[in-house]
Amino acid sequence: MCRRQTRSCRGCAMEEKRMQTNDTPYIAIYRRFRPEIFDKVIGQAHVVNVLKAQIASGSVPHAYLFSGTRGTGKTTMARLLAKGLNCLSDAERPCGVCENCRAIAEGGFVDVIEIDAASNNGVADVREIKDIVIYPPTSGKYRVFIIDEAHMLTQAASNAFLKTLEEPPENTVFILATTEPGKLPATIRSRCLSFEFKRLPQALIKEGLAGIAERLGIEAEGIALSLIATESDGSFRDALSVLEQCLPPGRVNLTREDVLEAVGSAGDDAFAELSEAVEAGDTAAALLKLAALIASGKEVRRIMEDWIDYYRSALLIKYIEKPETLLARAPENIDEIRKRTGNISESRLSASIVKLSKLYNESRWLSHPGILLEMLIIELSEEAR
Ligand SMILES: Nc1ncnc2c1ncn2[C@@H]1O[C@H](COP(=O)(O)OP(=O)(O)OP(=O)(O)O)[C@@H](O)[C@H]1O
Ligand SMILES: [Mg+2]
Ligand SMILES: [Zn+2]
Repeated sequence: MCRRQTRSCRGCAMEEKRMQTNDTPYIAIYRRFRPEIFDKVIGQAHVVNVLKAQIASGSVPHAYLFSGTRGTGKTTMARLLAKGLNCLSDAERPCGVCENCRAIAEGGFVDVIEIDAASNNGVADVREIKDIVIYPPTSGKYRVFIIDEAHMLTQAASNAFLKTLEEPPENTVFILATTEPGKLPATIRSRCLSFEFKRLPQALIKEGLAGIAERLGIEAEGIALSLIATESDGSFRDALSVLEQCLPPGRVNLTREDVLEAVGSAGDDAFAELSEAVEAGDTAAALLKLAALIASGKEVRRIMEDWIDYYRSALLIKYIEKPETLLARAPENIDEIRKRTGNISESRLSASIVKLSKLYNESRWLSHPGILLEMLIIELSEEAR
């Protein structure tokens, strides 16, 4: 089952098929397209610029903390820094192609050590680091420890680590990465140069996806990429995973409909019909429409999410003349929404969004969210009478 647990996930089908047929080892797109040089990193300019300058000048602090949302480039940036510090090029470092850069990218460089603190979080693991640290780097200029999920270190391990973190031997650099900096002891945080990785703006995600689609030889509709960018909520890894779900083997083009299907979304038409039935006070038609959506394999929470998005679009269309980029829809889709929701008032749309959102949040804990959605549909259509 895929990350999104959709029944129609073609990405998963693809992965399964590859496993069964024992093809060449399967490597996910997000791993194949990890940036090898700073200029390939999308966004995070506030980090890239500082790191570039520090590498060029050779004035490097001994501990960094990279924190922020999942899939926004923390591990990637940590490896770029590790490479930059050991790169053999005289031009901009890392070059991505010298012997050291390649060895680090492949995980075969003895002086760059990646530790997953989620599974190596005890005092004994910290002691191992201390044992290695006392010797100078063997094949590179710097020994770099990348400690991922650093917030998972136990209290005792964190304490054991403090001294080393504060005064490591020369040419040793620690890079701590975490999605939850708040869980790190303040004593650790205050010893690091801290960078917060931001969620990536949709426009940048779309641009990055376009570049990758081109490299994969896929002709993708701009609107399809916008939709993936919306789905991914600021995480480029998520964006690449969705892209992958949308692409069965041999596929050379990508439409908005492909994306909708891959993410298990029903498309505007379904929500136009549902809304029309509700607004006409036709409770029976609305309930049957919902039942049909569920029977076709759409998940209840996904239906709520998409219905909210449909109403939000209808509302924004009333205020903004050209909302294309904001809504990840083509002009003709927007015209269609405008036409079909023209008679629903702004206050009615926003009230419905509020009710749906509330139900969406509450439904996280329910085993049968469909029943409450039915109740809400009854309530909304009764109100419309
Ligand atoms: N800013 C970015 N620029 C380009 N590619 C990115 C960026 N962020 C993420 N990616 C893509 O997503 C993949 C995963 O990124 P990375 O491992 O750096 O994320 P992370 O922030 O460490 O996530 P996590 O918190 O889950 O560990 C990379 O291989 C790359 O393909
Ligand atoms: Mg990471
Ligand atoms: Zn290099």
